[in-house]
Amino acid sequence: MTVLVTGARGNIASRIVARLHAAGQQVRAAARDDLDLTDADGFDDAVKGVDTVFLYATRGSAAAFLSAAREAGVRHVVFLSSPASYEAVEFRGPIGRIHRAAERTLDESGLDHTILYPGWLATNARRDWGAAIRAGEAVELPYPAAQCVPIHPDDVAEVAVDLLLNDTHRGRMQILTGPESIRLDDAVATVGAVMGRTIPVREITREDALARREPWLAAEILDSLLDSAAAAVGRPAPITNTVERITGHPARSLREWVVENRADFEG
Ligand SMILES: NC(=O)c1ccc[n+]([C@@H]2O[C@H](COP(=O)([O-])OP(=O)(O)OC[C@H]3O[C@@H](n4cnc5c(N)ncnc54)[C@H](OP(=O)(O)O)[C@@H]3O)[C@@H](O)[C@H]2O)c1
Repeated sequence: MTVLVTGARGNIASRIVARLHAAGQQVRAAARDDLDLTDADGFDDAVKGVDTVFLYATRGSAAAFLSAAREAGVRHVVFLSSPASYEAVEFRGPIGRIHRAAERTLDESGLDHTILYPGWLATNARRDWGAAIRAGEAVELPYPAAQCVPIHPDDVAEVAVDLLLNDTHRGRMQILTGPESIRLDDAVATVGAVMGRTIPVREITREDALARREPWLAAEILDSLLDSAAAAVGRPAPITNTVERITGHPARSLREWVVENRADFEG
C-alpha cells in the first residue's frame, strides 16, 4: 500500500506521515513546495503507484490533481474539511465556502473518498493563546462563554490513517470530536491547571478582536470565526463517538494535549 500525504508539513498531515512510517507503510510525503495541489506541474509523477491520498482544502482548485489521481488508479481519498462547511452561520462565511468548494471538486472527481470534520483542534490553544500565556499576560477572548469541543490532533491523524489503510469505516464523511464541550475560558483554565497557575482571561469586544487581528489571519476569516463564536455562546457543541468507534480508544482530552505540549506554554 502506498499512501500520498499532501501538505505534509501540516499539523495533522505530519502526524499522519509519522504514524504511517511507524506502521511500516510506504509513504510519499509531499509538502506544498514539492507538490502544490493547485499547480499541475508534476501531478502524474506524484500519483503514480499511489493507492490512497490524504488531502487538505486548498484556496485554488485541486481538480487537475484529482483527475490525475483518478487516472493513476488512486482508490480512496481522505479529505480534511471543517464543520464550517455545514454549520449554521459558518457555512455561508468564507471558511464554509472554501471547504464546500473543495468538497464539490472532490465529489465531481468521481474518486471514492471520506471527508473528515474535526472539532476545535487542541493546537488552536497554542496558536491563539501561546504568546500571551508565555508572556504571563491575560488571554483576551471576545466570547469567553462560547462552547467548543476540543479534539486532540493525534485522534484526527489516527482516524485518517485507519481510513487510508482500511475500508472498514470509509463512508461519505466522519464527524470527529473530543470527549466534551467546554467554554473557551474553561479551555484556558485547563492550560492553567496543567501549568499550575491561574491564567487570567480578559473579555474584549468584537471590535477590539478585529483591531488586534494577527497579520496571518485574513479579516474576513476572523470576522467569520467571531460570528461562529458568538453563535456558540451558551450552546454546547455536539459530541460524537466516532474517534472511539474507529480507533478503539476514547477520544483524548484537551488536558492530555496540554500535558504533552506544556513546554510550548512556558515562558
Ligand atoms: N483549527 C481548527 O480548529 C479546525 C477545526 C476543523 C477543521 N479545521 C481545518 O483543518 C485544516 C487545517 O489543518 P492543520 O492544522 O493540519 O493545517 P496546517 O498545519 O495549516 O497545514 C495545512 C497544510 O496544507 C498545505 N497546503 C495549503 N495549500 C496547499 C496547496 N495548494 N498545495 C499543497 N499543500 C497545501 C500547507 O502548506 P504550507 O505549509 O506550505 O502552507 C500546510 O502544510 C483547515 O482546512 C481547517 O479549516 C481546523
